[in-house]
Amino acid sequence: TVSDKHSQTSKDAIRPSCKVFFAKDPIKIVRAQGQYMYDENGEKYLDCINNVAHVGHSHPDVIKAAVKQMELLNTNSRFLHDNLVQYAKRLTATLPEKLSICYFVNSGSEANDLALRLARQYRGHQDVITLDHAYHGHVSSLIDISPYKFNQLGKEGKKEFVHVAPSPDIYRGEYREDHPDAASAYADDVKKIIEEAEKNGRKIAAFIAESMQSCGGQIIPPAGYFQKVAEYVHKAGGVFIADEVQVGFGRVGKHFWGFQLQGKDFVPDIVTMGKPIGNGHPMSCVVTTREIAEAFGASGLEYFNTFGGNPVSCAIGLAVLNAIEKEDLQGNAIRVGNYLTELLNKQKEKHPLIGDVRGIGLFVGVDLVKDQLRRTPATAEAHYIVHLDRILLSADGPHRNILKFKPPMCFTMEDAKLVVDQIDELLTGMQLAQCQTTPKMWKHKGTFTFSTHLYRVLLGHN
Ligand SMILES: Cc1ncc(COP(=O)(O)O)c(C=O)c1O
Repeated sequence: TVSDKHSQTSKDAIRPSCKVFFAKDPIKIVRAQGQYMYDENGEKYLDCINNVAHVGHSHPDVIKAAVKQMELLNTNSRFLHDNLVQYAKRLTATLPEKLSICYFVNSGSEANDLALRLARQYRGHQDVITLDHAYHGHVSSLIDISPYKFNQLGKEGKKEFVHVAPSPDIYRGEYREDHPDAASAYADDVKKIIEEAEKNGRKIAAFIAESMQSCGGQIIPPAGYFQKVAEYVHKAGGVFIADEVQVGFGRVGKHFWGFQLQGKDFVPDIVTMGKPIGNGHPMSCVVTTREIAEAFGASGLEYFNTFGGNPVSCAIGLAVLNAIEKEDLQGNAIRVGNYLTELLNKQKEKHPLIGDVRGIGLFVGVDLVKDQLRRTPATAEAHYIVHLDRILLSADGPHRNILKFKPPMCFTMEDAKLVVDQIDELLTGMQLAQCQTTPKMWKHKGTFTFSTHLYRVLLGHN
């Protein structure tokens, strides 16, 4: 048939460059609204993973703003346009005062690449400190500073100018929840890295980190860590880049930006934004200080970006900011996020497979472990659990054992209850199956073993 031919062609043309969710039984989504996605048969899926559709899929006000501006004009920013100025003002009003200069670009990767250029131009330094397991984008300059990716290339993956600091993970890292000052201990590791690099004649241009690590495993750095790191990095002549591509725009609820969780006394030198900024429209932004922007301008190299800051993107960006405010989506993130973590914590008491529940607002991670004491990652189990019934959830982190919640911000209490009930059902089923297959092992309290065989049986692959 024509449609078979079409899917065959797209398979041939796209498959090698594209990995799909639930590859064994992929889903074809044809429309979406709010926090729901619908497949070609009209089946409805609850979306727990699309932080890009920040104010909800197909938000009517965002669509209207885009259409209205597209009917009128779209062009590059070499012409004056009110949308650009208004948007820059609205965006910078959400940030501390010294972050006042915007560069509009088109993707998270482009934003981080430009951030590196700004940082390197500032003092003429080259080296970058990045966190272990971090991902900052797909372009060459960012694969270089993304251990999440370059670790897959073996030893050759890490370039000389890249320095990897431990992820400030108080559940799995070296300094844990029982450490008297994990923030200082992790920051001291960065200090040591700087000292070592300088001993070898290297100069630090930047420290880059997500304000909360997402691909790295839903890690929330202990408060005070960024302040101390910034102090050491500044002393070395570098700048602090906060990557808010995944976690910005009110997702944490009580603040608009993730880095603000660290305290009022912390202000990054550069902030990069993406994903939620355009609710699915490809746009992004770098915001920095006047001093750094002026140093960049002083290079004599003119900066130009064909699509960045075009009137349509800016109209969309404004509509997204309006929706966050008008619909109190930050308040919703607090209320629903608290409820979700509360429900998940109750599951933690019930199921030994849940080692840790961590989250702020609608950014929540559930760390699955085979063993509560050793915290051995339960990777196969996480892979099994994300196969919920008409609920889209993913597992990530270095061991792919962290259930990752980052839904559209209109997620409701009912949605939270629905997903947690299903997780409970799956975990209970797994426990029962485990008891039936290896009752002796189950006697060890706090230990959960899950064989590949059992996983295949539960998934119906046998
Ligand atoms: C933290 C972070 N930074 C940057 C990027 C790159 O953004 P994009 O895919 O829009 O280029 C991503 C993408 O997943 C990301 O998670």
